[in-house]
Amino acid sequence: MKLLNGAPRSGPTGHWFFGNAREIAGDPLKFYAEGAAKFGDLYPVRFLNHRCVVASGPEPIEDVLLTNARNYRKHFVVRFLTPVFGNGLFTSEGDFWRKQRKLVQPAFHRSRIARFGETMVNYADNAARQLTPGETRNVHTDLSRLTLLIACKTLFDADMDGDAGEVAVALTHLQEATTTRLEQKIPLPSWIPTQAKRHLDATIRTLDRIVYRIIEDRRRSTVERQDLLSLLLGMRDDDGQPMSDRQLRDEVVTLFIGGFETTSIALSWALHALATHPEVDRRLHEELSRELGDRPASLEDLPRLTYLDAFLKESLRLYPPAWVIGREAVEDSTICGLPIRAGTTVIIPIHQLHRDDRWYEEPEALRPERWLGEAPKSLPKMAWIPFGGGPRACIGDAFAKMEMSLILATWLRRFRFEPTATPPIPQPAFLLRPKQGVSLRVCSR
Ligand code: HEM
Repeated sequence: MKLLNGAPRSGPTGHWFFGNAREIAGDPLKFYAEGAAKFGDLYPVRFLNHRCVVASGPEPIEDVLLTNARNYRKHFVVRFLTPVFGNGLFTSEGDFWRKQRKLVQPAFHRSRIARFGETMVNYADNAARQLTPGETRNVHTDLSRLTLLIACKTLFDADMDGDAGEVAVALTHLQEATTTRLEQKIPLPSWIPTQAKRHLDATIRTLDRIVYRIIEDRRRSTVERQDLLSLLLGMRDDDGQPMSDRQLRDEVVTLFIGGFETTSIALSWALHALATHPEVDRRLHEELSRELGDRPASLEDLPRLTYLDAFLKESLRLYPPAWVIGREAVEDSTICGLPIRAGTTVIIPIHQLHRDDRWYEEPEALRPERWLGEAPKSLPKMAWIPFGGGPRACIGDAFAKMEMSLILATWLRRFRFEPTATPPIPQPAFLLRPKQGVSLRVCSR
């Protein structure tokens, strides 16, 4: 572990009142990059009245996410999300979370999600039909709609008309309202009745009404469905008990919001990376032509698409949608032997970790080749964590990887993309969104 200047006792000093809040909010990517260079793998910062440490090396991260995971809960920002996610997997804690994770996990087993492969390819193919060679498009808008459609279909077996359409609209409002709330520079307590808060409450009520109705209809229906909601309805805990309607609602909303935007952001950055690296695009297209010929991609093809897999890993390394995650210490403890007081927030800047030249030669360069062969085996366990790590790692990682691979394989066989004069700007808010989307020129192969 790299500890400089006696860290974690020393760190950026910041303003006496705001702490480092203004520097972090100003340019967080730069703040964490400079922090790692000056102070090493573990150093303290202060965010308003919150005592924090930044863990930006694999060893302290492993300590927090894996070895001592039981001593941590989600950090204070995630708690702002409870009105939306309720007691769903992302926000719940302790024994309740453990029980739910055990219950929901089988629904995400590879064998279970394999059934969604064909849906993903069909939707990707329909979306590709909307693209016309020669035009310039904001592909982030296209990909958001595509992943939203896939989320509706795989969660509720519904197209965008009827219930699922209404849910999608409510969820999109909710996601916008949640983002606004999370991105307030100084978060206001949730009991203050601002206009945004009233709008959020009304949206939650609409969403609840629809989701409860879908659950009730589904409980009464005798038609067998192939979606995630059916799998969740069929799950039983160790006492043979099914989930309550309230819990089903919380899990469904969590999976929907957790799944669709992260995936569309990852795909948008991936297309930007290909547009700006024609040699990588060429190699990827060669692999797709060789392995698929004229056939549409399918789930069975994915194990043979090794360059596509390497490219996705590399794109998630450079542009991790969840660019920062955090925890809060429940009791006094240590991280790699250094004392941490109860209540301390641990900030894990994944974006910085992924650009550390100790593990990645020329870390700013897009080089999918680094993921081929034996080299990745020598990486520290927590050097690549776009899906988090330890017991609270993303439950939808295999789902997301399958969706991204099938969408890329479907689109890239037909089209390549060229950059435009307006390159995307990373906006490190709750997720690493491309500010104003990703504008690319569509070209035929
Ligand atoms: C590229 C796409 C995705 C990325 C980058 C991503 C990233 C992450 C990360 C980093 C975490 C851990 C957060 C933490 O430790 O605080 C997480 C958790 C989670 N993700 Fe994902 N995710 C993606 C797609 C999905 C999908 C498709 C779903 C569901 C269909 C999903 C559902 C969840 C849930 C439920 C959790 C909470 C798990 C728990 O605490 O038990 N994610 N995700």
